[in-house]
Amino acid sequence: MSPIRNEEILDVAVEASLAASNIIMEAAHNPQIARVKKSRSDLVTRTDLESERIIKSFISKTYPNHNILAEESDQNDNSSEYLWVIDPLDGTTNFVHGYPSYSVSIGVYYKNKPIVAVVLEMPHVKLYTAIKNKGSWCEGNKIQASKTINLKDSLLVTGFGYQHGDLWAKNMDLFKIFTDKCHGVRRLGSASIDICHVATGQVDGFWEYDLSPWDSAAGILIAEEAGCLISQLNGTDYNILKNNILVTNGIIHKEMVEEFKNYLN
Ligand code: IPD
Ligand code: CA
Ligand code: CA
Repeated sequence: MSPIRNEEILDVAVEASLAASNIIMEAAHNPQIARVKKSRSDLVTRTDLESERIIKSFISKTYPNHNILAEESDQNDNSSEYLWVIDPLDGTTNFVHGYPSYSVSIGVYYKNKPIVAVVLEMPHVKLYTAIKNKGSWCEGNKIQASKTINLKDSLLVTGFGYQHGDLWAKNMDLFKIFTDKCHGVRRLGSASIDICHVATGQVDGFWEYDLSPWDSAAGILIAEEAGCLISQLNGTDYNILKNNILVTNGIIHKEMVEEFKNYLN
């Protein structure tokens, strides 16, 4: 068991996310692109960098020895059994265009297992939190995955990475396949929020091919604690170092895995 109380860690994570969200909301009317990554559409704003800086400063102030893996900087050393995995602004493209789906995502790991998670959805603020074995919450209310029993009655959400390449055709094929078999597939542009929406039951499933650890590190604990099932697309175990992910309400999981297997084989 973690020697520090998980509730104490959650308080720090929430405080850090709120400080970051202040920076993000203040900049929302005037986003400043700092640089473009490998692909033309993979933007980094000054706000990504400032948000990351403030989150890291909260962590280092309270837990100077903890390791941090954050999207916009190199990982620090590996001496601690605690690892904070941070996406300082998930949904940067939405943020730049003023489209309402972006977040701060903070997942805390102890001995490589998730123990605490915070996703702060913006600009219509919603705070999602989870503690291992203690459930997950949105704005103070316990959340639970949906009870939808069939793929045909489900609503799904997906995401596409910035590197299109070989994955492009697959993403489009899968979008078509699932759109044909359910009530609809949405693509909103912030993976951590998408996963939280499976946890609240607003959608019944989420998948993505090419995720990074910080995109899912917090969401998967929030989803798991809300009764969701998480795996890779072929049904095998998922962890944040794998890049493809399927999160569902659990009930339609098998049906979705079968679809992925049929398509991938
Ligand atoms: C992206 C978003 C998007 C997902 C991409 C991610 P970013 O994160 O989560 O929904 O489809 O794969 O890279 O770049 O906005 O932090
Ligand atoms: Ca992200
Ligand atoms: Ca990001």
